[in-house]
Amino acid sequence: MPKAMITGVTGQDGSYLAELLVSKGYEVHGLIRKASTFNTDRIDHIYQDPHDPSARLFLHYGDLSNSEQLANLIYNVRPDEVYHLGALSHVKVSFEIPEYTGTVTGLGTTRILEAIRRSGTPARFYQASSSEMYGSAPAPQSETTPFEPRSPYAIAKLYAFWMARNYREAYKMFAVNGILFNHESPRRGETFLSRKVTRAVARILAGRQKKVFLGNLEARRDYGYAPEYVEAMWRMLQLDEPGDFVLGTGVAPTMREFVEEAFGYAGLDWRERVEIDQRYFRPTEVDYLQADASKARRLLDWHPKVTYKDLARIMVDADMEAVGLTPIGEGLKLLDRHFGDWHRWASGVTAVIRSAGNGVD
Ligand code: NAP
Ligand code: GDD
Repeated sequence: MPKAMITGVTGQDGSYLAELLVSKGYEVHGLIRKASTFNTDRIDHIYQDPHDPSARLFLHYGDLSNSEQLANLIYNVRPDEVYHLGALSHVKVSFEIPEYTGTVTGLGTTRILEAIRRSGTPARFYQASSSEMYGSAPAPQSETTPFEPRSPYAIAKLYAFWMARNYREAYKMFAVNGILFNHESPRRGETFLSRKVTRAVARILAGRQKKVFLGNLEARRDYGYAPEYVEAMWRMLQLDEPGDFVLGTGVAPTMREFVEEAFGYAGLDWRERVEIDQRYFRPTEVDYLQADASKARRLLDWHPKVTYKDLARIMVDADMEAVGLTPIGEGLKLLDRHFGDWHRWASGVTAVIRSAGNGVD
């Protein structure tokens, strides 16, 4: 049985990736932070008591700022594949805590790479690189576009990108960079633009909130659906040779267009519900991110299906369900049409794991 380790397993991507790998028959080891509150709600539905012989997901406490613990973990688990997704991932927050961002988002990668190298394990390594690294470089951006980062987060990610490349060249490590453009889902953190908006739509419909305060709505982002992106992460580590890959849909709406779509889907006029607040503007903004993912289409056979308009429907439906409303239903239908019903959030994913023979209830 192949073994994978995931840092950031409690996050949006980590949780989808854990499901995917368990459904493919992997034993999955996830790094989690000790918190005084529960922080595993995105993976609770696939977690079983480790004493259960059918358990496939194992969780280990650790922190990306502590190399000793990471080294022990990699040495003891000896994974075949390491997916390094853990990071301080919020661009605006990185301006407020730039030093911490460097320690976790930048140096965290070095700590893992060095732990793999010193353990002597021939693990394949995935680095969660970001389209944010392109910054002010003109769109569309591909693997050959020079980086022009515009935030402490992007600069930390750029350092990590080059460390992964350096370990590939210096030590012949199978290390890949997935340069992912924005990907969203019902599991997106509540303070990122897409989720903040779809959650507000649902709460306004439920009478729990009247309006939402947002920042700059003129920037463009290439928006895709997160579960499609984790499939490509896995494909990158199955290649014969390591490389770097851009993933994105090629379609980049302004954030205003996404807001319009989400509110419009729910029959609401966004202009009556959105207020602009300077507090959500960034000291330096990234204006235009649009992927040229032709390399991934060619070498990974990766063709994302969900558009940003679909995404607005999927996420509004999910957030309506979360506040106890009956979803409008177009988002649910889209998921059924594209993927079959297992791509629905929460209980749906356990079905695919069960059908893969792992006995998760
Ligand atoms: P996310 O939901 O914010 O998840 C981040 C994960 O990192 C969480 O599990 C978090 O743990 C963990 N983490 C944060 N600080 C840590 C620390 N000091 N030690 C250990 N773990 C720590 O992010 P995501 O959207 O899933 O993104 C996954 C990765 O891809 C990130 O590296 C992100 O920067 C990158 N990325 C994301 C996108 C996107 O559009 N989503 C695009 C390009 C690149 P807690 O749950 O305890 O906070
Ligand atoms: N978060 C947030 N909150 N963003 C807002 C708001 C708001 O209230 N109002 C406007 N925006 C704008 C931001 O200024 C930005 O232009 C855009 O909405 C998207 O912001 P986020 O959703 O925070 O995502 P991001 O593009 O900055 O970063 C995400 O994508 C990167 C890939 O390009 C994160 O997932 C990063 O981790 C990831 O690397």
